[in-house]
Order: sequence, then C-alpha cells, then structure tokens
Amino acid sequence: MLHALLLWLHSWFRWAVVVTTLVVGARCAWAWASGKSWSQRDAARARVWVSVLDTQVLLGMLLYFFASPQAAIARQSLRAAWSDPSLRFFGIQHPLSMLAAAAIAHASWVWARRTDDATREPFRRLGLGILAAIVLILLAIPWPFLTYGRPLTRFPWQ
Ligand code: HEM
Repeated sequence: MLHALLLWLHSWFRWAVVVTTLVVGARCAWAWASGKSWSQRDAARARVWVSVLDTQVLLGMLLYFFASPQAAIARQSLRAAWSDPSLRFFGIQHPLSMLAAAAIAHASWVWARRTDDATREPFRRLGLGILAAIVLILLAIPWPFLTYGRPLTRFPWQ
C-alpha cells in the first residue's frame, strides 16, 4: 500500500520536475539572450524549481529506503545488483544521477545569488545548472522504451 502510494506520487511528480526544469531553463536562456536583469520573480521561479526537485528526491529516498521491493534487493548487495540491468538502474544509477542533479540545482542556485542582480549573470549561472541537471534527469528517467522502462503515466491499477 505504502509502496503503491509513493510510486504513484513519484511517478506523477516526475512531470513537475521535467516541466519546471524546462520552463525555468527557457526563461533563463531567453532573459540572458535579451540582456534582462534578475528580478524577485526570477528568484521565486528558481526557488520553486529547486523545491520541486527536493520534493521528488525526498519521495525517491522514501521509496529507496522504506518501500521499494526492488531497491530493497539492490541494497542487500550493490555489487550483485550491478549485474542485473533493472536492479543496477533502480538501485544505483537512477538514485545517484538524480541526487547529482539535485546537488547541481542547489549549487547553481547559490552561485546565481552570489552575483550582481542588476546584470544578466544570474541567468547564466542558474541556466548552466539547469542544463546540467536536465541532462542527468532525462538520462535517468526510466522511459518506456528502455528494457527496465516504466509507463509515462501511472494509475492505481497499474
Ligand atoms: C529528479 C529526481 C527524480 C525523478 C524525476 C525520478 C523519477 C522516477 C520515475 C519516473 C520512476 C518510475 C515510476 C513508475 O514506475 O511509474 C522512478 C522510480 C524510482 N525512483 Fe526515482 N526519480 C527521482 C529521484 C529519485 C531518487 C533521489 C531516488 C532514491 C534515492 C529514487 C528512487 C527511485 C526508486 C527506488 C524507484 C523504483 C521504485 C519501485 O519500482 O519500487 N528516485 N523514479
């Protein structure tokens, strides 16, 4: 029951992660290219993006340590999990890649705040972080066409 609920939340929340990353990333690219200066609304957008990632990481950790049968098998022996594609993905590659994306998001957010708001520099700093994070996120999502792929949408009966 806990597993089904967390998996459902984690599955749908992936879209909040993807959409906020793309929207805030597009805003950074556009504002940087047109020489805009950083505003309070940009700071609020960046905070929303980092918080959405943090929430997804928290759901993932709850799955990983308390609810997921696959993660439980992988955690028993990461060495053995490495030789099984699905266990390797959900037990090692997916969590590490997503944690790295979240760490980069935080670092770029801190970096963006440590510069002059009246310039376009904060957009460049946050934008670089977003670019790195989206690559890691898109590579670590279990897209349906992969051997260990999962559905794009998850419903209670799945
Ligand atoms: C940006 C962050 C993340 C995104 C976008 C993401 C996305 C996803 C997606 C789409 C699934 C498949 C859901 C389904 O079957 O419908 C999944 C499964 C899973 N994720 Fe994440 N995830 C993220 C972070 C994490 C983190 C940080 C961890 C662990 C520390 C984690 C652990 C897991 C586990 C264990 C599963 C498989 C659960 C199971 O099938 O029992 N995720 N994730």
